[in-house]
Amino acid sequence: LAQIDVDLSPVQVGQAITVTWRGKPVFIRRRTEEEIAAAQAVNLAELPDPAPDSARVQQPQWLVMVGVCTHLGCVPLGQKPTDPKGDFGGWFCPCHGSHYDTSGRIRRGPAPLNLAVPEYAFLTDTSIRLG
Ligand code: FES
Repeated sequence: LAQIDVDLSPVQVGQAITVTWRGKPVFIRRRTEEEIAAAQAVNLAELPDPAPDSARVQQPQWLVMVGVCTHLGCVPLGQKPTDPKGDFGGWFCPCHGSHYDTSGRIRRGPAPLNLAVPEYAFLTDTSIRLG
């Protein structure tokens, strides 16, 4: 489907869900205050693909990204509570060891770019439309 609507209301703070959109996994994480603070505190000069957290979210508690590693396309780990989240508390790609932070930005490893933010819009406070 070109567009899908996602109900965010069941997602608790600190939880993540994965939906499929245009054949790709989309990661949606309802970030904790700590995750938001960590994402906002980063010195942009340290980033391989510099982007402020504010440019990657529409509402700070909701991070929405395409869950495809920008190195060679594996699906990073970090969505499930038991998953490794890498050295920066976000996602870890086990294929070749890329670490993404709580904004989905690449911090260490071979991936060249941050996890992509798809086109989406909030329909209500607790639902979004992808595409
Ligand atoms: Fe993710 Fe290579 S595909 S690190």
